[in-house]
Order: sequence, then structure tokens, then C-alpha cells
Amino acid sequence: MRSVALGLMATVFSLQAFAQSITYSPEKKIWLIKTAVSSYAMGVSPEGQLQHLYWGGPLWRIEDLPAASKKNDISSFDPGQMLDNEEYPGWGGPRYYEPALKITRADGDRDLVLRYVSHQIRGDELDITLKDIRDDLEATLHYRVYEDVGIIARWSTIRNKTNQKITIESAQSAAWYMPRGDGYRLSYLSGRWAAETQLNREPIHEGMKVLESRLGHTGHNLNPWFAVDSGDALEESGRVWFGALAWSGNWRITVEQTPYQQVRVTGGFNTFDFAYPLEPGQSLETPQFYAGFTSEGFGEASQLMHKLEREYIQPLQAKARLRPVLYNSWEATEFNVSEEGQKTLADKAAKLGVELFVVDDGWFGARNTDHAGLGDWVVNPKKFPHGLNSLIEHVNKLGMDFGLWVEPEMVNPDSNLYRAHPDWVMNFTGRPRSELRNQFILNLARDDVRDYIFGVLDKLASEYKIRYFKWDMNRTFSEPGWPDVAPDQQKELWVKYVLNFYDILARLRAKHPNLEIESCSGGGGRVDLGVLRYVDEFWTSDNTEAFDRLRIQEGFSQAYAAKLMSAWVTDVPNQNGRSTSLEYRFLVAMQGALGVGANLNKWTDDDFALGTRMIALYKQIRPVVQSGQLFRLLSPRTNDTTANEYVSPDKNDAVLFGFRHSQEYNTAPPVIYLRGLNARAVYRVESIEGKLAGSTAEYSGAYLMQNGLQLVLKGDFDSTAVLIQAADKHR
Ligand code: GLA
Repeated sequence: MRSVALGLMATVFSLQAFAQSITYSPEKKIWLIKTAVSSYAMGVSPEGQLQHLYWGGPLWRIEDLPAASKKNDISSFDPGQMLDNEEYPGWGGPRYYEPALKITRADGDRDLVLRYVSHQIRGDELDITLKDIRDDLEATLHYRVYEDVGIIARWSTIRNKTNQKITIESAQSAAWYMPRGDGYRLSYLSGRWAAETQLNREPIHEGMKVLESRLGHTGHNLNPWFAVDSGDALEESGRVWFGALAWSGNWRITVEQTPYQQVRVTGGFNTFDFAYPLEPGQSLETPQFYAGFTSEGFGEASQLMHKLEREYIQPLQAKARLRPVLYNSWEATEFNVSEEGQKTLADKAAKLGVELFVVDDGWFGARNTDHAGLGDWVVNPKKFPHGLNSLIEHVNKLGMDFGLWVEPEMVNPDSNLYRAHPDWVMNFTGRPRSELRNQFILNLARDDVRDYIFGVLDKLASEYKIRYFKWDMNRTFSEPGWPDVAPDQQKELWVKYVLNFYDILARLRAKHPNLEIESCSGGGGRVDLGVLRYVDEFWTSDNTEAFDRLRIQEGFSQAYAAKLMSAWVTDVPNQNGRSTSLEYRFLVAMQGALGVGANLNKWTDDDFALGTRMIALYKQIRPVVQSGQLFRLLSPRTNDTTANEYVSPDKNDAVLFGFRHSQEYNTAPPVIYLRGLNARAVYRVESIEGKLAGSTAEYSGAYLMQNGLQLVLKGDFDSTAVLIQAADKHR
């Protein structure tokens, strides 16, 4: 549908209409941003107010848009400012909704009213500078357009050009407006440790819903992603406005509906415990807030996000490579690692076809339990009498790359690092320091701590042939004090910590271009587009129980690409005491970046035979899973059958994964209507282990999409994968 519609539009309106993604009309003072699937517009009113004008399906004619204008007061209780839809509202005058910027001046004055000053268009980027009506306090709004995926990144730089100090109390990246109206719905991801990214969908009513983290990191509880839909959207239809905030610290997204049927989404730094001083001449840049629109449902909203991540956000090296199959022994051995033990596992992993062998926690210092050693990043000589090199050489000889677990931001009180630098921990002087998992958190906002951590990781990456770090972060912040700086600077910790974290990652990648990094925080506690600029993948959840994973992965996929979703096959019974077959566990994990986290010493010959087959199959379908389009056909939230289909960009290859939870009354699972295929092409369709009804093995794309496929899934926790390949490939 989409490509036909776009094809027609491109011919009718000529290529010129699409050549430039940002146009400006000086007469009407309107900017129109055009993408392949959406348009976005804002304008300046005669008073100089920057107002949002449009966000929805594609427009091509700037003349159609009404010029921005000041609204009239409805009553003394309903000022016109409440109806103005300011693109970036300061807190000042009679404005009572969520502001984008709130400040206090040194003299106590807090009124801030922003007016347009100037703008600059540079290709796909636009800067609009606003300024207070009196003071030289500026906010430059940045826009970057990702034309092919229909997504705009917005963020702002706040500059204090006055000669007095100001304190920023709220600095948001953007306010987004849906068309005025009622009946919208909000989708968001919530959860907790080992139960991340659960999809919620609920009506939006008047008032405000706050999605946020006060934890210091992105958090397991809420993920900085939202989708607002017209109230009737499905996977394949309906208007959806969606977005994600690129910040790995305290973040906040508010979704409010005013009494005037206006839904607004505002996001940026969390305002909780926020106070960021700006001396004259100083500035603060907010995180980037990416958002897009589609009229083709939640499915396309996710596909656009996935493409944005793979094509534009990930580091270049990550973009160029598909994720390797990984082995990690954490769930098998926990802290009980040794050179010999790891070599034995490496031999077995290599036979399975594993490409990256990762040593998890326990390899360093006195780290025999989680009570000691964190912070002491020296190889434990008892566990690795020949250092790490002997193991690394062994792993490399087996044809695998080597990876290592680190948790650089943390320290156990029982460690040499803490004994040497108790002041490096964030703390309020003389107050208790809360331990979580027996560990403290280093104050990474300090530049000396930042440089120390960079030094540790740089040394490891320089001394050893390390291809990959699993960077973990196993606790939330507490007592976020920074006694070494002036009291009014101490709250900068929330922001500077994250900037220094990014700085280390950026420097590491620049110095070690082949190094890959996984972002992990006790599972999915640090999954966001901010850290994605520096990492190759995310650890999705410490919950590797395959049935739970179906829902965790469904939620994850709303916002994040399959390539980024690290997924392991582990032993049973696990987290829920549930046992599913090895095949089921493989098929669940094969929907992302496949890894094996099982104790291979306990595997039978049959397990190895199956594992080897599944890994070979994964390597065959990996380009489709990791680079293709995902279609969520049946949701584990609403069906006893879950089905996900991945289709290659050229539509020649697809793979369908099907899972049956619990068959009742001897019924067949629902018919599965495939999507995204070429209707005119003929495909060869093959289920692994023959779980497909019907005799013909070749069908047209039209038939597969219109008539669907009938899988044979029986009993409890049955599963299959169906390979769908353009038939001429076989001739
Ligand atoms: C966290 C991670 C796990 C594992 C342990 C090690 O919980 O999410 O995968 O690395 O730490 O301590």
C-alpha cells in the first residue's frame, strides 16, 4: 500500500516536491517539514510566538497551512495562551501546562516568555532560535529530519547570554502536539527487573500521565518510548504518533490532555531534583527526542523506529555487521569461572557454531560472590593462572571472538578501589550509603572517575584481544551527593554522570574501532536511543524464560530493532520453574540476536545435535531477522498463538515464527495471514519439522497474504519456524 501510494504521489507532485525536506515561506513565516510518510509544520505569529501548526500525513503545499496567530481568551480562567500550542513554551505569563523551559534568575525573577529571533536551514537540519522578551536568554530548537523513515529528532540548546546567573529547573527537548481532538490512546512500556518492556495501551483523558525514571539510569520500570494513536489503530492501520527519548539518565515524558481537547507530549530531562546552574555565557543541551507519524498502525511505527536505529543511530561499525551468535556461561557457572572450565565450554560452544565467546562476571579481583571485588579490574590469578591470554588464544583458535563482562561504574565496599577512594562514591557527607547488591555507585560525574574508568577499559582493550564488552550496571542511584563541588552545582550530577558515561563509550570506540559493546543493566535497565549511539546491542532482560520472553520481546519490538535484542537460550526449568523444549527456547531466541547461555556440560548428544542445527538455521535466516521488516501477526497478550514474521528488504526471503501456548478442545491455531510479501511472486514454504498443514510447498505471495497459512501446533508450548523463499531462487 505504502509504496504504491508513495509512487503515485511522487509522480503527481514531481520529484521536486520531495527533494527538500525542510521548506520555509517568508510571507507566511511557516516551516514545512516533509518526510516519506508524514509532514510537520510550525509558524511564527505576528507577536513572534513559535506555534505548532501540523503533524500528520504528508502535505506538499505550504500555502494550505494557516499562519500562526494568537488565540483569544475564552475567559479570565481560560487564557488564550492555553490554546496557542507553542512549539517550545517557557514558563511565564498565564501558562499552566507542562513547560519546555523553566528558569530562576539570580535575582529571583522566574518569568520566561520566548519569542522567535532567527532561523537557519542546513539541508535536513533546521535551527530556530527563540529569546526571552526582555533578557538575552536563548533557546535554540534543533530539528533533524530523517526523511525516509518519517522521523524528526528535536532537541534544544539553552544559552545564558545575560550577565547574571540563572538556574534551569526544567529543560525539555521538545513538546509534540497531536491534532486537537478526543479519544486518543497512549501505548507505553513498563515493567521491573526480569519483567521489562510490557506493553500497555490505555485511553488518554484530561490530566497528565508521567512516564519517567528517577533512578539515575534509564530504568526497568518505564522505557522512554511512547505511542499515541487515534484510538482505533491496529498493527496495520490507524494513525500513530510515536517517539523515543535518547537519554540514559533521569528522563521524563509527560502526556497531557488540556481542557481544550489538546493532547501534548513533552519530554527531556526529568524535572525531579533538577537544578542546573548556568553562569553568564554557559549553555545546556538537552537530549534528542525522536518522533514520527504513520497512518499505517503500530506495525509501521515500529518498523520506522527499527530502520532509524539500524541506519542512523547505531555506530557505523555496528551498522555494517550482523550480530554474531554468542555464548555466555553466566547462568551456567555464575561466579565459578576458571581458565579450564571456560576452555571446556569454549570447545563445546565452537562445535555448536558459536561465533563470540563471552566470559561474564567473576574473572577479576576477589570476585567469588557478589560481595567483593567490584572495582578491581585485574585478572584473578587463581582462576586464570596464565592471565586471560591463554583462554583468548584458545577461543580465537576455535574460530570465535572473545568478549568480557565489565561493570565499570560500580564498587563493592570490600574492594581495593573503595579502600583507596571512598570519596569516589556518590554520597551525602555523614549520611548512610545504601548498598544494593552489596555495591556502591561511583560518581561518574567527576572527571577523575571518568578518566579512571576509561583508563581501566582502554587498558583491557589494549592488552587483550577483546572484541566485545558486556557493560553492565547493576543498581540504581541512591544518595546522589557530590560533596566536592559547590552546593548549587551538586544536582548537575544527574546530567554530568550520563555525559561522562557517553564520553567513555565514545573514546573507547574511537580508540578501538573493532570493539563492540553491549548495553546491559541487570537486564534491560539501560535500553534507550542515547546509549545506542555507542553500542551494538542491548541485553533485553535477565529473564530468559522463553514464554515470558515472548511478551518482553513483543514490548521491546515496539520501540527497538530485533538486531539490538540480545536473546539467549538457557536451561530449564528457569525463572518460573517452567520447562519448554530446547527447540521452543531456540525459536524464541532466534527472533533477535541469538545467544546461548546454557550449561553445555549438561547437554546431551541430542541437545548438541539440535543446537547445531538451530544455530546453522539461524545463520541462514539471520540477515532477514536482523535487517528485515518485522510484522507482529499474533500477539502473546491476546492469543494462545504468537506469530512474528520477518521479511527481507527485497521481499525474496521471509521467516515466520509460530508459538502455541496451550491448545484447548483440540482446536487448530488461528490462520496466520502473512504480510510484506510480493503478491505476484511465488514462494517456496517450508516448516522446520513439518508443522505446516497442506500439501503444496509453493504458494503465491497473494495467497499467503490473503488466504494465510495454517500451522500445526499442538499441546502446550509447541513451536515452529517457517522459511518462505522466492521460488525462483531454487530453480
Ligand atoms: C547482571 C546481568 C547478568 C549477569 C550478572 C553478573 O545481572 O544482567 O546477565 O551478567 O549481572 O553479575
